[in-house]
Amino acid sequence: MKYDPIYYGDYLQLDTLLSSQKLKSLEHGKEAHDETLFIITHQAYELWFKQIIHELDSVHKIFNTSNVNPTHLGVVNHRLQRIVQIQRVLNEQIAIIETMTPLDFMEFRDYLVPASGFQSIQFREIELKLGLRQRFRLGIDQKFFNSRLKEEHKEYMIKLEEESTFLELFDAWLSRMPFGQTENFDFWQEYQNSVNKMLEQDRKIIMDNKTLHDKEKEFELKNLEATRNSFAILFDEEKYNALMETGEMRISRKAKLSAIFINLFKDEPIFQIPNRMVESLLDIDEMFSTWRYRHAIMVHRILGTKIGTGGSSGHDYLKRSTENNRVFLDFFNLATFLIPKNFIPALPSEIKKEMGFHFE
Ligand code: HEM
Repeated sequence: MKYDPIYYGDYLQLDTLLSSQKLKSLEHGKEAHDETLFIITHQAYELWFKQIIHELDSVHKIFNTSNVNPTHLGVVNHRLQRIVQIQRVLNEQIAIIETMTPLDFMEFRDYLVPASGFQSIQFREIELKLGLRQRFRLGIDQKFFNSRLKEEHKEYMIKLEEESTFLELFDAWLSRMPFGQTENFDFWQEYQNSVNKMLEQDRKIIMDNKTLHDKEKEFELKNLEATRNSFAILFDEEKYNALMETGEMRISRKAKLSAIFINLFKDEPIFQIPNRMVESLLDIDEMFSTWRYRHAIMVHRILGTKIGTGGSSGHDYLKRSTENNRVFLDFFNLATFLIPKNFIPALPSEIKKEMGFHFE
């Protein structure tokens, strides 16, 4: 088969790409040197966002079924890790834009109002496709979110809200996981007994600790009660579901139990990829939070406490959204429910066998 010869610049459409930096300052009569950096940085971000969406769509497709093909899990994890590597680059890019001083920025900033990062549809798409639904955003955030977009973009975001997020698909997959309960064995009943033993042992250690004053003991016992309460919520379907309603819990109780199980038995062959997938989601969330925080600090450095071109309180708003817009907090909180190895109930041999390789 004969293919037409390809020319580097044509293939990459460099004519279009490299003539897409139109400076507003030049249009208004005087070129601001740093506006080129400002445009190119944003464009580079948007290109990487496109690649992240490409990866997310592919893993979404694999998980968007009630019967996920296990031979595809390696590919899913590979692509999630690719997203993490892109995020590393995105986080490093902040340092480039930070070379622009507040005075350099002021040379063209006023020409940009009311355009803003709020209007990065691809950024919103990534947040939403991962699992950050509108109802999980801060009230003030939701207002900005809706009011700054073109009509066609608003419609696109509404359409995306109607689709399932990766977190929801992953939740459904985890919920279908067997092992926790079989006909003759209820792992979670045994686990609950172990938790009670562990908490009782911890209480005894605090009470017998002669180096603690009464006030210190009181403080530690209060912390222990908080842990007991967290477990009580985990083991009580009604209490847990009430927290799902408020958004405090974002994955179902069944999925949470499966994730804990995977974590406890992560060395078993069957759980090695699932465990790595959970780790990848933690990586993605951590990378996003790092980006949000670095972007907020960079904005502080360049704008001080001035408001943003999109009308938000600028640095202050961005700092709050760093804490609030976490997607995979449930997986970060898993560690709360892990107990030391010597307390983990032993699994019956027929379950253990299901988790390993067989060479008979
Ligand atoms: C001089 C550099 C920058 C400044 C001063 C700046 C400033 C701001 C401010 C003040 C906001 C809050 C919204 C507003 O009121 O406008 C914001 C949001 C945002 N910016 Fe930037 N930004 C800069 C560079 C970047 C870059 C390089 C990107 C990469 C795409 C970016 C992406 C975003 C995004 C996605 C948001 C929305 C964040 C959210 O709502 O959680 N910004 N920016």
